[in-house]
Parts: sequence; structure tokens; C-alpha cells
Amino acid sequence: MTTKKQENQLTEWQRAQFATEHSNRVLLYGLPGTGKTYFGLNYAVKTEAHRLICTEEMTDADLIGCYKQNSQGTWTFHEGVGIKAWRTGARLVVDEINRMNGDVESRMMALIDSTASSSWQHPDTGEVVKPHKDFSVVATMNGLPEDLAPAILDRLVVRCEVNRPHPDALASLPKYLQDLATKMTDPDMGTDRVSLRSFVDFEAMYRKSGNLEFSTQVVFPNHHSDMSDVIRVARSSATPAEAEQS
Ligand SMILES: Nc1ncnc2c1ncn2[C@@H]1O[C@H](COP(=O)(O)OP(=O)(O)OP(=O)(O)O)[C@@H](O)[C@H]1O
Ligand SMILES: [Mg+2]
Repeated sequence: MTTKKQENQLTEWQRAQFATEHSNRVLLYGLPGTGKTYFGLNYAVKTEAHRLICTEEMTDADLIGCYKQNSQGTWTFHEGVGIKAWRTGARLVVDEINRMNGDVESRMMALIDSTASSSWQHPDTGEVVKPHKDFSVVATMNGLPEDLAPAILDRLVVRCEVNRPHPDALASLPKYLQDLATKMTDPDMGTDRVSLRSFVDFEAMYRKSGNLEFSTQVVFPNHHSDMSDVIRVARSSATPAEAEQS
């Protein structure tokens, strides 16, 4: 018997959707290849979305901007993606936030801070820029939130763990692959788990080559003989309309 509480239980992606619709600062974390970046760039976005990929080498220039010389030799300030997103109220997807280096941490803290306390002054014009009311951040990472510096974590209090592929990602695969992809991408598969990206790549390779054997060998080297059998059966039992679609 399911209780009222269980009926109201959201799936992990429903939680992420609700969080992103109702909060301007959300951290999505979990296993690779589930659709976190795609979600940040495409879901509950009000105007446009910019992606900021965090790396060991990133600098303030990536977030805020830097001076660049034009062909006439004049130096002007070019705003970085963070300030652009502040101005327009865009979504800023701070991808792989755990890979950010310590040098940009304080800049990042200022960028993703609550809008009331944030501002930045343009070095040439003196203009003070504050985040647009629609500005939002979706940060993504593998691993656990505790891997982040406490001050960054304190600015991302809405945290959603997602370990299964987004349902739209599974639905975008041809019908004959969907059940298999759902099963193989499940976190309960442990070390046998296969990333959704493998299914996306397999589908493209098989569609282009028409060679099931080789495509499974190349994309699923550890499971290829089982995979090719299951896919062959799934394809042969597809309805003509489904086979046409795939
Ligand atoms: N909602 C979706 N609709 C259609 N395809 C999707 C969707 N989400 C993800 N995909 C597909 O899955 C691939 C992987 O998604 P994405 O890069 O967002 O994963 P991720 O969770 O950010 O992975 P990582 O943790 O490794 O960065 C995408 O390139 C895209 O092909
Ligand atoms: Mg990603």
C-alpha cells in the first residue's frame, strides 16, 4: 500500500525541475552523463543560457572579463560571461564547479552571491552593475557537495542529487534502445553501469554504419555480445513504425 507521503515523493529530476523553477541558485551533482549540463542550459531558462566550464587554468577573465587590444592598438575591457549573464538575467551554468581553482574562488563567490549583496564596477566607465532579477545559476559537478569549499557551498544551499538520466534524454533515443538504456544507466548497476553518452554515441554510429556487431564492439567493449543480442531482439520486435523511426 502506498501512503500519501510516498505518492508525493518526487523523482530526482522532478526535484531538480522544481528547484530550478523556484530558486536562482541550484547545485546539481551526481554520476556522469545523466544530463545535468544539458538541463542547466535548456530547462527553466527565462532568456538565454551561458556555460562557464571550470578548470584548473581558469582566471578572473573567464568570469568577469579582461582588457583586449583591438586592431588599432586600443585596449578595451571585454566583459566575461558572468557579467554578461548578470546584465541580461541569463542562466549561468557553472559546469564542473569542483574543478575551479582557488584563485578564482572569491570571484566566484561574489558572482553567485545573493543578488542583494552583489555588485561589480566597470574599470573604464565606473558603471556599477548588479545582477538582473532573473539572473540564475545552475552549478554542476560529479562527486559530493562536501568536495566544495564551505563558502561556495554556503551560496548553493539548494542541492539536488541526480544519478539517473533525465527522462527526456532516454525518450530521445530510438524506442528499441530505451528499455536497455534505462536498465544499463541505472546507478544500481554499480561498476557495470554504462553512461547515457554511450547510448547516444552507439545510436549515431549504428545509424551511420548499419553495422550492429561492430558498433556494439566499439562502444560497449565490455558488454558487446550481450548488448548486440538484446538490441537485435528489440529491433526485430519493433513495430514497423518504430523500426522506421529508429
Ligand atoms: N534532456 C535531454 N534531452 C535530450 N538529450 C539529453 C538530455 N539530457 C542529456 N542528453 C544527452 O546526454 C548527453 C550527456 O548529457 P550532459 O552532458 O548534460 O550530462 P552531465 O550529467 O552533465 O554529465 P557530466 O557529469 O559528465 O558532466 C548530452 O550530450 C545529450 O546528448
Ligand atoms: Mg556536465
